[in-house]
Amino acid sequence: MKDAIEQAGQAFRKLLEEQLVRIRNMNTEKTDFSTKQTVTIGIIDGDGIGPIITAQATRVLEKLLADEIAGGSIVIRQIQGLTIENRMACGQPIPADVLEQIKACDVLLKGPTTTPHGGSMESANVAMRRELDLYANCRPVCIPEKNIDWMFFRENTEGEYVLGSHGVELPGMAVDFKVTTDLGTRRIARAAFEYAKNNGKHHVSVVTKANIMKKTDGKFTAIAHEVAAEYPDITVEDYYIDIMTANLLKEPLREQFQVILLPNLYGDIITDEAAQLQGGVGTAGSANIGDRYAMFEAIHGSAPRMLQRGMGAYANPASMIKAAAMLLRHICRAEAAGKLENALLTCPVTVTSDGANATAAEYTDALLALL
Ligand code: IPM
Ligand code: MG
Repeated sequence: MKDAIEQAGQAFRKLLEEQLVRIRNMNTEKTDFSTKQTVTIGIIDGDGIGPIITAQATRVLEKLLADEIAGGSIVIRQIQGLTIENRMACGQPIPADVLEQIKACDVLLKGPTTTPHGGSMESANVAMRRELDLYANCRPVCIPEKNIDWMFFRENTEGEYVLGSHGVELPGMAVDFKVTTDLGTRRIARAAFEYAKNNGKHHVSVVTKANIMKKTDGKFTAIAHEVAAEYPDITVEDYYIDIMTANLLKEPLREQFQVILLPNLYGDIITDEAAQLQGGVGTAGSANIGDRYAMFEAIHGSAPRMLQRGMGAYANPASMIKAAAMLLRHICRAEAAGKLENALLTCPVTVTSDGANATAAEYTDALLALL
């Protein structure tokens, strides 16, 4: 046992040193899409239902950006090889040659990728968020008839995730680590408050479990309030994650929430709940934003059971198409984004995973007709 503790101690020291290096490399220059001559959009199919829904979202982008694609200011590039089979064969969450192709793009539209349970293979998502330093996971949930308009700002590169594949096991016990840094918290908090300021929002809720996770969540809350002090027109309120999950169901209280700022794992969990209120995870898109790169995706996984049931054609592409709309906004194509957002709101066709309604392709046909 003494040896095991010694080894674990050494592993922990190495992790701390690696985190210090990560903090040192955190500041990168921001890409300015309003002036960029050529924007390259990488398309990654993913696993399971990924290729089905990504193909539909790509059709939408190709239609909206047709002139710019013809003129060369937009390049759409397919990136192969981020499949579970290839990742397992290479033993890497993102094979090196695929990562190189990814880094040659400016923004990415990515289908869901399968993450193996257990073992030590890291999730491709987590790896991509880290490799491209995509620190802000922005997830809108909007239900106009219920007066709900929420924007979640989930920290995307720290918390339980950053070392989630680097825990230690000793005889009879396992330990994982959670990391919260000053810089990492400050940049996600700033992103949330800037979003609020620029979008006419006057309220930010900071959601943690700082009564229990005193060091990490305590830091997250404290820094969020430091940043908040620079935005005197925006009110801030703290909630614990447990009561917040209840509050999202509580009427009319939930109508008052606008921008919700939270660490990684809580953000993962609560955004599935929020998406379910909107009509299911198949209806929710998500932006992973860094200073240089950004990646847009559905909030859900690759749904292998849908494929096993032979229902893949009925996967709802709305999540990926919403992600595509967020991509268009991010690259400053506001007009195209607006058109697509309107079409998504008015599209008369619905897709349900039971196959009772339209297929992914039929839904997209109807949507394209509105553009
Ligand atoms: C999400 C997903 C991912 C996450 C998985 C696929 C790693 O659940 O984007 O919410 O946990 O972040
Ligand atoms: Mg999730």
